[in-house]
Amino acid sequence: MSTAVHSSPLFSRNLRKDYPVALRGEGSWIIASDGRRYLDASGQAAVVSIGHGVAEIGRAMAEQSNRIAFAHTTQFHSESAEKLAARVLAIAPRNFHHGGRVYFTSGGSEATETAIKLARQYFLESKQPGRYRIVSRKQSYHGSTLGAMSVSGNIGRRAPYAPMIPEWGHVAPCFCYHCPFGRTYPECNLACADDLDTFLGSNYASTVAAFIFEPVVGATLGAAPAVDGYTARIAEICRKHGILLIADEVMCGMGRTGKPFASQHWGLEPDIILTGKGIASGYAPLGAVLAAPRVVDAFEKGSAAFMHGFTYQSHPVSTAAGNAVFDYLEAHKLFDRVTPAAESLRKALSLLETHPHVGQVRGLGLLQAVEFVKDKSAREPFPKESGIAEKIRQAALEKNVLTYPSQGTVDGTRGDHVLLAPPFIITAQECQLIADVLQFALAKVFPA
Ligand SMILES: Cc1ncc(COP(=O)(O)O)c(C=O)c1O
Repeated sequence: MSTAVHSSPLFSRNLRKDYPVALRGEGSWIIASDGRRYLDASGQAAVVSIGHGVAEIGRAMAEQSNRIAFAHTTQFHSESAEKLAARVLAIAPRNFHHGGRVYFTSGGSEATETAIKLARQYFLESKQPGRYRIVSRKQSYHGSTLGAMSVSGNIGRRAPYAPMIPEWGHVAPCFCYHCPFGRTYPECNLACADDLDTFLGSNYASTVAAFIFEPVVGATLGAAPAVDGYTARIAEICRKHGILLIADEVMCGMGRTGKPFASQHWGLEPDIILTGKGIASGYAPLGAVLAAPRVVDAFEKGSAAFMHGFTYQSHPVSTAAGNAVFDYLEAHKLFDRVTPAAESLRKALSLLETHPHVGQVRGLGLLQAVEFVKDKSAREPFPKESGIAEKIRQAALEKNVLTYPSQGTVDGTRGDHVLLAPPFIITAQECQLIADVLQFALAKVFPA
């Protein structure tokens, strides 16, 4: 990358980087101003589920906008928000079905902020005012606003803001490939889950309101799913200590792992679920907080008024986009496509696993990652300065394939992976292309 700053009125993510303009989307492809067609192997950031350029979504948004684009939620509800809330609850775990409610935000970070405050106020309504801390896990990401950063365990993203964010406690992740306890599943007897119990036992459990975790850790660990038994143990520990359980499914929810919500792979019934990204497939900014009846009840019996709000919550046009995406998912049975598409992707990627610097290909459904290691037998990562994930991204980009690279996989600093989270419509040929291009990238970054 050159040291020159590119001129643009936009405060871009990196002022030294040149960004082509995305002009058009077609299915799993993005056509840009540099004249190239890019295969979107990461669904941008695990956002795009139905594919790019579906004209009926825009039509539904225009139709809603033409009727009424905005009405403030202190005065009105909208048909589109009411309808989408009911649809999301209907596909949620069973404990949300009778009396659950949905709070729509403009994205995942706002959903996390909302859940943090919802959990706090739940305990005020329940006459337990001493509970306010939200415990989370190391190596996690829950959003970029300060409240969401305080629960995030992503060291790199937290570091610049560390003096500004409270520390409520972070426990071990469930991450077998680099187990924080150096153990092996199932002989480990879920030491990672018990870390929550140990933490609560010695850290003023009576001040804790909730535990938040990603059932499948997306960006930070690279598509690391919970192992069988983990979520049940966590739920039991939360119950024992009288705290709420929040599943952050901003990345892994809305069908991405092959079930509507990843929690459903393990029969988990959280008290609060967060979702975002795929809920509107990128057609509009939208996130959601699902509150189980138990949480809603406390408000109904108490003040009934959540002391929290955003001007754009439950936005009529964003929720119209959500409904149109839902219609499309249903009409084309796209939730059902995830598992077979994921099998095609895994089959195509399986050859990569023989490469000496590919440590693991892992994931659930269409949330997959390839982790790169220096020493495969020791699972030893490359030094951070080697910038392997970024080099792989750049090499894949030469062949017009977009991936989502991350560093810090192992401990927040060391470790490299690329995330693959293509649209649910990805074809077997496109999966093969992704694998071929990653082979090319490996050969380029690690010449023989
Ligand atoms: C698990 C998880 N939670 C929260 C967020 C924050 O969402 P947003 O970027 O829409 O604010 C993300 C974003 O990547 C995420 O992956």
